[in-house]
Amino acid sequence: MKTIFITGANRGIGLELTRQLSSTGNQIIATCRNPEEAVELMELSRDSHRNIEILPMDVEQEVSVTKLAETLRNRGEKINLLFNNAGIIDWRSMQDIDTKTMLRVYKINVIGAMLVLRAFVPHLKQTPEPMVINLSSRLGSIALRGRTELGGAIAYSASKAGLNMLTKQASIDLVDDGISVISISPGWVRTDMGGPKAKYSVEESVKQILCNVDRFTSGDSGKFFGEDGEEIPF
Ligand SMILES: NC(=O)c1ccc[n+]([C@@H]2O[C@H](COP(=O)([O-])OP(=O)(O)OC[C@H]3O[C@@H](n4cnc5c(N)ncnc54)[C@H](OP(=O)(O)O)[C@@H]3O)[C@@H](O)[C@H]2O)c1
Repeated sequence: MKTIFITGANRGIGLELTRQLSSTGNQIIATCRNPEEAVELMELSRDSHRNIEILPMDVEQEVSVTKLAETLRNRGEKINLLFNNAGIIDWRSMQDIDTKTMLRVYKINVIGAMLVLRAFVPHLKQTPEPMVINLSSRLGSIALRGRTELGGAIAYSASKAGLNMLTKQASIDLVDDGISVISISPGWVRTDMGGPKAKYSVEESVKQILCNVDRFTSGDSGKFFGEDGEEIPF
């Protein structure tokens, strides 16, 4: 049994990660901005064998992240696996985006992930082979730009490229703590973000993500993978 920490667990990929990982007996710390509004997550928690704990955390607010980290540290919580899943998108192109939105996307998708990772290093490094999975996107691959179907989304693409650098740099900075940090793209998924025309159901995507996570080793730290298990060039 592992203790698994998930951000943005109230809907989409985060909710499905919580569902699939809790069904195999893991202890889930499911975090979200507004637990009182997380109806599906609360139902899932009630139906599970009490192995889902729902806690408030807004990755945009540093104090929210550090407060939860402190609470969990005080009670001696150790974390095996952390999913930096929370994220937002804005589809506008360079011509249309405003700086306020650009900053907000960066704040949540990059700074938020960094704050969470940093705050939970003490909890992670107490477990054997701890791992952090950053939910990235092929839109964040500089090497693939121009070769995928989607265009625009300048704030999002730039933020996911930034997240990939966070993965790479953190994998180096945390090597002495034994913490692996890996970026994974879930593919194009039918969630609020991905929309109804996306390729994968959320169940399929999360199943693939978890297959990959199961086979990841410390040798994969600092790399970027697709849902198909293939490495994606940065
Ligand atoms: N769906 C796709 O096709 C796709 C493709 C590539 C990558 N991804 C990545 O996969 C991850 C999950 O995507 P998704 O499709 O599940 O998106 P989604 O359905 O839009 O869900 C996003 C989640 O992030 C949470 N969130 C946003 N801002 C937050 C904040 N400040 N603090 C805490 N939680 C916050 C949301 O919570 P609220 O309900 O409170 O807003 C929600 O739980 C994202 O990082 C996304 O970039 C998705």
